[in-house]
Amino acid sequence: MTTRPIGLISAIAEETAMLRGRLNAGAAETHAGVRFQPGRLDGVEAVLVETGIGKVNAALVATVLVERFGVGAYLFTGVAGGLDPNLGVGDVVIAERLIQHDYGAIVGGRLEPYRPGALPFGARRAPLAFTPPEPLLEEARAALADLALPEMPAAATGAAPRKPQLRFGTVLTGDQFLACEETRARLFAEHGALAIEMEGAAVAQVAEAYGRPWLVVRAISDLAGRESARDFTAFTAAAAAGAAAVVTRLLPALAR
Ligand code: ADE
Repeated sequence: MTTRPIGLISAIAEETAMLRGRLNAGAAETHAGVRFQPGRLDGVEAVLVETGIGKVNAALVATVLVERFGVGAYLFTGVAGGLDPNLGVGDVVIAERLIQHDYGAIVGGRLEPYRPGALPFGARRAPLAFTPPEPLLEEARAALADLALPEMPAAATGAAPRKPQLRFGTVLTGDQFLACEETRARLFAEHGALAIEMEGAAVAQVAEAYGRPWLVVRAISDLAGRESARDFTAFTAAAAAGAAAVVTRLLPALAR
């Protein structure tokens, strides 16, 4: 067991709500205007924090977590827009690969993505994606094998009964909220990604720089199309409950 706490991160309050209620909280600290809440969750030392939205906020918080709290691993939990047409609101995605889809070069009116930090022209040698350690993903698969995700309200499934799915795959991160079917289809075709969000790969980049393992768990709150802002508002709290159920199972694997 590591004696170092886990950085338990979300972007917004709706995403931490389920976990906050269960945290045996210690003394909170504020750094850079952000409230960091140390405590124990199911007996595991953690620091719970909301980053605010976007990659810079996420990177700032991930850096403070390791520099001021000495976290040994990161677990990001929250919601995302679905890119894969087979996904529905309430499904949960675990990132096997995280790509910052908005870093790169604009050529001929289109963005050619590069790995963050790489010179964005010439041969693309460095891998685009950040990846968690394979043994950790294996443990996550085993820990989640028999998990039944909470059912979503009828409004989220178009009133059709639907058993929420748990999927492992590629997740995109960028500083845009996606509300466009055309772009959704293009990003799905280009990256084969399951979901899109605004913080995960920034945390992964910081985690990699400090040599810390990480996992990103995202429940689908909307389908990244014209209705996405409305769906996000309506379904984030219910979807985040699914992500929290997954986090509960993953904490012991990360605490090792
Ligand atoms: N997080 C939740 N929904 C999202 C969307 N449609 N685009 C980007 N991030 C999101």
